[in-house]
Amino acid sequence: VKSTPDAGEPVNGRDCEAPAIVLGVESSCDETSVAVVTRPGRLLSNVVATQIPMHQRFGGVVPEVASRQHVLALSAVANAALNSSTASIEDVDAIAATFGPGLAGPLLVGTSFAQGLAIGLSVPLLAVNHIEAHVLSVWMEGSRKDRPNSESLSPELPMVSLIVSGGHTELWLVEAIGRYRLLGRTVDDAAGEAFDKVARLIGLSYPGGPEIERIAKMISPSDALRLPRALLPGTYDFSFSGLKTAARRIAEARARDCTSDEFRAAVAHGFQESVVDVLTAKLLAATSDFGCRSAAIVGGVAGNQRLRDIAAQRLGVPLYFPGPGLSTDNAAMIANAALLNPRRVEPGYSVRPSWSVAIRA
Ligand code: KG4
Ligand code: ZN
Repeated sequence: VKSTPDAGEPVNGRDCEAPAIVLGVESSCDETSVAVVTRPGRLLSNVVATQIPMHQRFGGVVPEVASRQHVLALSAVANAALNSSTASIEDVDAIAATFGPGLAGPLLVGTSFAQGLAIGLSVPLLAVNHIEAHVLSVWMEGSRKDRPNSESLSPELPMVSLIVSGGHTELWLVEAIGRYRLLGRTVDDAAGEAFDKVARLIGLSYPGGPEIERIAKMISPSDALRLPRALLPGTYDFSFSGLKTAARRIAEARARDCTSDEFRAAVAHGFQESVVDVLTAKLLAATSDFGCRSAAIVGGVAGNQRLRDIAAQRLGVPLYFPGPGLSTDNAAMIANAALLNPRRVEPGYSVRPSWSVAIRA
């Protein structure tokens, strides 16, 4: 598979009519996923083949291994997605794929597959931005409102969306679908990356987020360690490297305790509290500073129940989360984003590993 020269900006969504049934392809990292979604964001199927066991022994995602696994898995995943939907391949009106941001090799595999399908079926090819797809995932069925004081299905705008995944930690002001302002981002590690690194430090397996969450529950809050918070006052930016270093110092100083569940739980608990505190403080500040009518937390770390609970306690506006199984990477959110904000591109359009659709505020 090879990259083609960048063909410029995709056609703006407003000039492109929304298709009725979209087949989405996601391959930007370590999840191979294909989904069939129909208007309005209704899932007909969503099949995710995770490569996590493959990367576990390296403690993180190895791009070359990921590319190869996507090549091996894609056809079977696409067949499974079509078979488990009520649609047949002839019913598909458009093919959507993640064109960025993400790992270049894995993106090339998924977009080449999507382009082949679009050409073969003579249907449009739609380029989806992975981060925008996470943001729009709360427009899908099953997205939960923790404060049910609004009956509307779609979140009320403007909204602040906190994107917390293994590769990104960003705060967006969503003024409209397709109009986003980047309020802040991490200046070092992404939140999920920090979960993964601290988990590794105390001997937990990859991905570290769910492991930290699980082990943190094994201790009472009064026995947890208090770890620092980087609040970076006056900005909506985040920093997690100081926290990671603090956790490393403690782990090194008490290397003998590192195998004890109690010690690991004390570190995990203290770490999780610090991350949750900082994330919710920034989300709360941005929501109030911009007079937002709703807020959302999306991306892999949005699966964290402690984060959901504390954010729901603190926020004074309806708070949205992706539905079950839709926080971590999946193709349903890719097809859904293509339905909500279609960007048509010609086959041969290049992948964009650093693609950003939010304008820095
Ligand atoms: O969105 P995602 O599936 O992939 C990226 O686009 O990066 O996010 C994966 C990240 C991993 O770092 C993982 O440790 C983290 O999300 N994660 C969690 C939880 N579940 C997944 N972090 C904290 N708590 C969780 N329950
Ligand atoms: Zn993601």
